[in-house]
Amino acid sequence: MSTPQDFPRIGVVGAGAMGRGIAQLFAQSGHQIVLWDSQPEATTAALQAIGSTFERLTEKGRMTPEEAQAARARISSIERLEGMANCDLVIEAIIERLDAKRLIFERLEDITGPDAVLATNTSSLSVTAIAAACSRPQRVAGIHFFNPVPLMKVVEVIRGVRSDDSVIERLIALVQASGHRPVVASDTPGFLVNHAGRGYGTEALKALGEGVADAVTIDRIMREQVNFNGNGFRLGPFELLDLTALDVSHPVMESIYRQFYDEARFRPSVITAQRLAGGLLGRKTKEGFYRYVDGKQVLAEEPPVPPAGSLPPVWISPAGERSAALAKTVAELGATLENGAQPSAQALILLAPLGVDATAAAAGLDASRCVAIDTLFGYAAGSCKRRVLMATPATRPEFVAAARSLFAADGAAVDVLRDSPGFVAQRVVAMIVAIGCEIAQQRIAEPADIDAAVRAGLGYPAGPLEMGDLLGPATIVEILAGMHAVTGDQRYRPSQWLRRRALLGLTLHHQD
Ligand SMILES: NC(=O)c1ccc[n+]([C@@H]2O[C@H](COP(=O)([O-])OP(=O)(O)OC[C@H]3O[C@@H](n4cnc5c(N)ncnc54)[C@H](O)[C@@H]3O)[C@@H](O)[C@H]2O)c1
Repeated sequence: MSTPQDFPRIGVVGAGAMGRGIAQLFAQSGHQIVLWDSQPEATTAALQAIGSTFERLTEKGRMTPEEAQAARARISSIERLEGMANCDLVIEAIIERLDAKRLIFERLEDITGPDAVLATNTSSLSVTAIAAACSRPQRVAGIHFFNPVPLMKVVEVIRGVRSDDSVIERLIALVQASGHRPVVASDTPGFLVNHAGRGYGTEALKALGEGVADAVTIDRIMREQVNFNGNGFRLGPFELLDLTALDVSHPVMESIYRQFYDEARFRPSVITAQRLAGGLLGRKTKEGFYRYVDGKQVLAEEPPVPPAGSLPPVWISPAGERSAALAKTVAELGATLENGAQPSAQALILLAPLGVDATAAAAGLDASRCVAIDTLFGYAAGSCKRRVLMATPATRPEFVAAARSLFAADGAAVDVLRDSPGFVAQRVVAMIVAIGCEIAQQRIAEPADIDAAVRAGLGYPAGPLEMGDLLGPATIVEILAGMHAVTGDQRYRPSQWLRRRALLGLTLHHQD
């Protein structure tokens, strides 16, 4: 490979998990790399690890032996930071501490030439605050990789308040040439991906805290009921918290909440605070929301739904387009439908609320016979993995059991929740869309970049704006407005970007 024209020599400061990945990536795309760490043994270990990675890639046929040898030869270590004097770009990936990073940038400004670009891989500190240590903050920007760097194909290029446009453009081109997808985000708490990722865990924790369902049930719902173009979430929110570990994720939840001056949408949960204090960190301590034996999650089998005895007739409220589709499924599953203006005295009353709880949807009806079903995602007979029901506190157990049996009649799994505005899937997905819309509204990133970064960086089945468009912006507004009305909690207020596009019949990707 010929030497890239821009940034032929890249310095990497910090040879830990991220520094070594960054060195590998850019050595593979033809740049000369110099690596420095305050701990010489970290540099040695990094060079060894990169060498073994290249060997493995060669064995798997992903690199030729010549390519591996050439890429390895492009990386050298240096004993003093001063060895970065002739670098065109220096990427800092040291400990996540503002004072330590500012000190490195101060030194780099003296060491490097006046045109060198200085970039930080910080995940939570302000790029602008790091740049302020330099007399020329225009040449400083963020370049935020995800772990493991070679495999996580998205990179956030962070525009500090004083970053030069040309610096941002050159970093975008650099990332593109390495085969990764650059997304530009302005320097705001959590940048793009860690900001967009706030909804999933916090809303699931909110539902858990309200006693709506246990963690295992919530995880199953997000994996199996949610369906965007055939895919749910790969990991449930609690499995994800176990994987990242609470000593990492709880402080991030607190930090982003505080940095946005107590924005209600990001409010952390007392549940993770207590579990962190108790040492239930997740996989790495063998116990989190799940237990782990030999690295494997211990999971009790889901009990089968008891078969239906004689089903009561079903009356659906309210009448309308949604209830016509529901009536079709109910009939296909074998129940008798009532068509009267009011339910008979024996009828199971079926509700299909958006954003409000079963109790609110049961207004004016006999709540003791009311059961609600979540109709946000497909629930048609024969084609649905999991259906989700919920009951009011007054619903009699025999009506819950009847609804459960009815909706399991084609072999689908059924969960029954305690009453909740927005069940589980509605509220979690609506929160993800609302936060994605805030990111667009605040011009932190472009709509297409918001979706691409979330799909690649968080592995969601669709980006937040794409989710909103697939379900319909007006539907998301209805869910959020319902939740806002029932709970009075500001976290559920519909975002302005979303509300305007829903009212105007525009896609959530529409920019003004
Ligand atoms: N690990 C991740 O998932 C991840 C993802 C994105 C960004 N980041 C960010 O990347 C940076 C590095 O994270 P990491 O996971 O590679 O950490 P790490 O602990 O694996 O490595 C950090 C390295 O920096 C060295 N170091 C510490 N202080 C130094 C100093 N003052 N001067 C020179 N070297 C110093 C350490 O010896 C260590 O080798 C942090 O800012 C982190 O927030 C991490």
